[in-house]
Amino acid sequence: MDKAVRTLPWPTYDKGNVFVDDEDLGAPRQALANRLYFRYDYRAYNDTETGRFEAALRRYLGVPHALAVSSGTAAIALGLMSLELEPGALVACPGFTFAATPSAIMLAGGRPLLIECDHNLHFDVADLERKMSPAVRAIVVVHMRGFASDMPAILAVANKWNIPVVEDAVPSLGLVAGGKHTGTFGDAGAFSTQSDKSLNTGEGGFLVCRDATQFAKAVVLSGAYEGRFKRHFAGPPPEICDLDYPLFSFRMDEIRAALAHAEMARLPRRLEILRSNYDYVVDQIADLERISVRQPVIPGSYLGDSLIFRLPHVSNDHVVQVAAALRSEGVDARALASANDPNVRCFWNWRFLFRGKSPAEIRALLPATTQHLSHAIDIPMSPTLTRADCDDLIRAIRKVMQRRASSHADLAPRSADVVETAEAK
Ligand SMILES: Cc1ncc(COP(=O)(O)O)c(C=O)c1O
Repeated sequence: MDKAVRTLPWPTYDKGNVFVDDEDLGAPRQALANRLYFRYDYRAYNDTETGRFEAALRRYLGVPHALAVSSGTAAIALGLMSLELEPGALVACPGFTFAATPSAIMLAGGRPLLIECDHNLHFDVADLERKMSPAVRAIVVVHMRGFASDMPAILAVANKWNIPVVEDAVPSLGLVAGGKHTGTFGDAGAFSTQSDKSLNTGEGGFLVCRDATQFAKAVVLSGAYEGRFKRHFAGPPPEICDLDYPLFSFRMDEIRAALAHAEMARLPRRLEILRSNYDYVVDQIADLERISVRQPVIPGSYLGDSLIFRLPHVSNDHVVQVAAALRSEGVDARALASANDPNVRCFWNWRFLFRGKSPAEIRALLPATTQHLSHAIDIPMSPTLTRADCDDLIRAIRKVMQRRASSHADLAPRSADVVETAEAK
């Protein structure tokens, strides 16, 4: 029998392959020993772990305000809530993102308006423009799988309609696009520190903001009661009354803040490894004509923690089979759109948004995104990947593509507009 390229498990965060150094553990241990786990105690803001973490984030991202919170979802919701949109306001967001993005819009009292993604799975700005109306009160942009969205184009639409932009930068901490960190282009940027992200505290997140008053509201909403929001300002705080806002207890605790802050020291190294592994693999499969590797909106605007490629000329069934063949070779590949895998990054699985609609009716809402996702394969590239792991990945992709090409004429390019998709059946 044919021998698999690798038998070792493919390294991913949920198997413990995380970029955490023993040195990083000293700070949370000390925070535990201090027995002061709540961020708002008798200490001065700058003497708390959360305060220090926020200061480091401000420096790193070059933003005036940062707030550590309990999750990326909470950060997106706070970014929107602090804009005080009217209840039920339409908020545009892409159809390719984790289900947490539309969920956060709902948490903030809004209604998601789904926007198409282009063939590179980026927010389709032309579709955004088509769907804009006075009822759309904000845009949530997502830098999905560490690829920057086209921020100048999206901001131009937002400016034309005079509406705010919140960036779901959860998957993209450390990514610089056009000289600026993702998450710092819009009115607010949301990040996560869940284990699969650039900083790993198990769960957690943070929000960055430009405007001091919006930030003050976000701080109160996150659970800073009885004047505690004022501690976040070195000078006079904005004149808001905190009793005007509900308290959602989205605060980050001291132990996680200590860990996240410690991990920031190694973030540049993590980013270097991701980029160098990704570029190496992409270079080594560049000659495979049937594969279209996801392209960035501007050269270099990706992190490299996920390899997404499309097989644009074959049916969804074949894409699913290619992903299965890669898994048999020992690589955790996933066809993004597979009937047997309810992937919550595909909008048709957000049934909570479309009660009463059939999957086919939901897919028909974004036909282009449906088609592009039906061709896509997603492979996680952990920062713990060694060169040998990358070589396995290259060998597995080459082997599967060559084998399928020799046994299936259907892997040869066909006209894109006659592509069958599972959902068309
Ligand atoms: C694009 C995107 N947005 C939001 C989230 C939610 O982040 P969290 O799990 O920290 O709430 C995720 C989680 O992976 C995500 O990928």
